[in-house]
Amino acid sequence: MEFTDVLKNRRSIRAFSDRAVEQELLDEILAEALESPSSSNTQPYKLAVATGQECKDIGQKLLFKYNRANEIQKKPLPLKVVSAVTSGVLPDGDYKPIMGKYPGIFQERRVQTGMGLYKVLGIERHDKAARDEQMARNFTFFDAPVAIFAFIHPGMTYTALVDLGIMLQSLMLSATNKGLGTCAQGALGIWRSPIDEHFDVPKDYKLVCGVALGYPEDAEVNGYRPDKVSLDDLLVPLKA
Ligand SMILES: Cc1cc2nc3c(=O)[nH]c(=O)nc-3n(C[C@H](O)[C@H](O)[C@H](O)COP(=O)(O)O)c2cc1C
Repeated sequence: MEFTDVLKNRRSIRAFSDRAVEQELLDEILAEALESPSSSNTQPYKLAVATGQECKDIGQKLLFKYNRANEIQKKPLPLKVVSAVTSGVLPDGDYKPIMGKYPGIFQERRVQTGMGLYKVLGIERHDKAARDEQMARNFTFFDAPVAIFAFIHPGMTYTALVDLGIMLQSLMLSATNKGLGTCAQGALGIWRSPIDEHFDVPKDYKLVCGVALGYPEDAEVNGYRPDKVSLDDLLVPLKA
């Protein structure tokens, strides 16, 4: 693919076929991701790559936690607190997800993007059950056969997050170039314990997010193209 086409074709994929990703191909993508720049070449990240049964098992464990947490959420207040504490499904990720409103314009963009996605999926605005079900699909990686969990060393503070983001974008572009699809998933940072049950992640590394990877299904949701901001919005103007 032409490089520009790779950039333009990379879009979040939320419906994957069950076709397994060949190990050799996966290794090539990971090796290409390692070409990324990082602050002082520190490369302060690690990936846990779940395939096959590992991927399915972690997905089921995450889905169980999500469903249970969702049930608890619907309980009246005192019961909610007791159940949340005793259930073992309280978020045990390393970074707190932004649960409430995003600040200002970001909330507007978030809502617009979410609405657009639900529209493509045929989900009505007030259909909470259908929205919950779509959210739940995050935890089985939209049926992707590969789930990648991304960690950073927090000792490198903010540069580690920048470095990880760059590396993950390289990974996603490499995958796109090879005919695969990806979806970065902040949702995969909510619970860490299912990943620790399968991988020996060094305890001083923090879970940031995940990436689903696989062959895209021919589904309408994969054609969703949320708007990007204009160049005017991107660029800071010169002082008058
Ligand atoms: C750090 C990060 C976290 C994300 N988390 C999720 C997620 O949990 N679930 C999801 O469906 N999409 C998630 N996305 C995908 C974004 O919604 C998507 O990138 C955005 O809407 C722009 O669409 P595009 O990727 O198709 O260009 C995430 C993307 C990033 C970069």
